[in-house]
Amino acid sequence: MANKSIHDTNKNYWDNTADEWFGVTALPTYGVQFITEDELNLFGDVSGKKLLDIGCGSGHSLKYHGDHKAAELWGLDMSTKQIENADKYLKECGYSAKLINAPMEVDAGIPLDYFDYVYSIYAVGWATDLQCTFDRIASYLKKDGVFIFSWKHPLHHCVIVEDDKLIFDKSYFDESWFTYLNDGFAITLCNRKIPTYINALAKAGFVVEYMAEETDKETMLATSDLSERSKKAKMLPLSFVIKARKL
Ligand SMILES: C[S@@+](CC[C@H](N)C(=O)[O-])C[C@H]1O[C@@H](n2cnc3c(N)ncnc32)[C@H](O)[C@@H]1O
Repeated sequence: MANKSIHDTNKNYWDNTADEWFGVTALPTYGVQFITEDELNLFGDVSGKKLLDIGCGSGHSLKYHGDHKAAELWGLDMSTKQIENADKYLKECGYSAKLINAPMEVDAGIPLDYFDYVYSIYAVGWATDLQCTFDRIASYLKKDGVFIFSWKHPLHHCVIVEDDKLIFDKSYFDESWFTYLNDGFAITLCNRKIPTYINALAKAGFVVEYMAEETDKETMLATSDLSERSKKAKMLPLSFVIKARKL
């Protein structure tokens, strides 16, 4: 499937549903029912640092870093509506951010060798060209700069719950693109294996420093009236997060 057609489909989804996603997936959260930045502390001290958020959505993760005294806040998102929401929200919170409305795979005029951190909360998996995206992210970072991203764990997509049992419904090895309807709007995605991310990072010049795929403690300890999602989350990762450093 051509990248342009995937971008058009997904931009249409995000432009039409941005308000429903306002602040839903943002730091300190890395994913639903997943350990948070409060426990992982992957960023450390961001005060005085320059940060770029890839797929910044409504700007809530940028606000989180503003609250932690980051020096510069930059955000990129393909959805015009998300960028409008982020701009309004961050201004209301008293933050000045440089926001760019463009897909993550293109040259959007972002400065090179400039950022201390580039990060992405539940957005990198939307990349139509993962290697190109990671190469660009590496180019934005200073040497020794940090790239942190979270995304849906590929096992989550492959396994369903039936009669309290987890069943493989799709192949973990299948990375083909698929389209489905969510809230009446089409989405086109693919389900990449973990090594696809690791190998693309290595090729882009990153070394992986940490990877986590733990469900949060609350879900792990819960025992009664479990939703299908919770039953799944107790047995396999629903999300993952990776911290990598530019060599
Ligand atoms: C789940 S939201 C991210 C939320 C946000 N990271 C936060 O912390 O609040 C995913 C975002 O990725 C954006 N997106 C999807 N495909 C993209 C692409 N190819 N390039 C840039 N942004 C994209 C969507 O418009 C959407 O805002």
